[in-house]
Amino acid sequence: MNKHTPVLYNQVIDELSDTNLTKIIDATAGQGGYLKTLLADKSKKILAIDIDPLQIKRLKEIYKEEHKSGRIIFQQGNFANLDKFAKKHNFYPASAVIFDLGLSWDQMISYHKGFSYKQEQDDLDMRFNSRFKYTAADLLNNLTEDQLLDVFMSFSEEPKSFDLVKEIIRVRAKKTIKKVADLNKVIAKISKKDSTYRRIYQALRIAVNNEFVNLKKGLDSALKILDLNGKILCLTFNPTEDRIVKRFIKNNNLASKTIKNKSAEANFEKIATLRVIVKTNDK
Ligand SMILES: C[S@@+](CC[C@H](N)C(=O)[O-])C[C@H]1O[C@@H](n2cnc3c(N)ncnc32)[C@H](O)[C@@H]1O
Repeated sequence: MNKHTPVLYNQVIDELSDTNLTKIIDATAGQGGYLKTLLADKSKKILAIDIDPLQIKRLKEIYKEEHKSGRIIFQQGNFANLDKFAKKHNFYPASAVIFDLGLSWDQMISYHKGFSYKQEQDDLDMRFNSRFKYTAADLLNNLTEDQLLDVFMSFSEEPKSFDLVKEIIRVRAKKTIKKVADLNKVIAKISKKDSTYRRIYQALRIAVNNEFVNLKKGLDSALKILDLNGKILCLTFNPTEDRIVKRFIKNNNLASKTIKNKSAEANFEKIATLRVIVKTNDK
């Protein structure tokens, strides 16, 4: 992920540039990549949500003035509860909701929570909020064989899930899997490919943070508080996640378009899919 600019940034901003879109909810505010540009349009107010208390703390410091003047409101919490937050902060009905899924550059690199397979000294934590009950190490050392298979198959469709889980079970019987280096040794037994490492770390992160359940709830919740003709912008980084969004569009009979960056260089940018969903009916 580029440190400064979110993926498909121009396309997201372009979709939100209409001055009629006045109440914007950034459901995954992160490092605030969209906030400065959105705030430059004086017709807009923003509700910025993030599940990670550190992200919200930092944003509050950066946008002190705008916070004071009421142009931006911060809410630490899970976007699964977006409808409640929108009602609480008078963002009901909202003009648009953005979901930029996954994790930010800072969380990946500076938090040392074991999100990256390249930082071998880190503990396998992966919780967006340290109040969550289970770390990635807890899952690796305590889930049953079937539960582990489910994590790797359902969350990242890892083709080598069976071999991987057998190896985890064999290794953890002798020694607890605690660090990134421990998990990397297990993975090295089944594959040397970067893509395998990425998928396995991604599946664990999704499991630890209950990401797919939250996404389903978040989308339903957004639709409840969205104005007629309001937009949901959803940026996904893996096909399984994108399927959840597609199903949501179909089940609710919503209009949508898909935007991809075909000329992107980095792998994560190439696979990014932005779905722009419009609430064309009021159920
Ligand atoms: C890809 S980053 C967003 C980057 C952001 N657009 C920016 O420009 O910096 C994803 C963010 O979503 C947050 N997040 C993940 N799951 C969440 C949830 N269920 N509710 C709220 N925030 C969540 C993460 O903590 C992370 O900060």
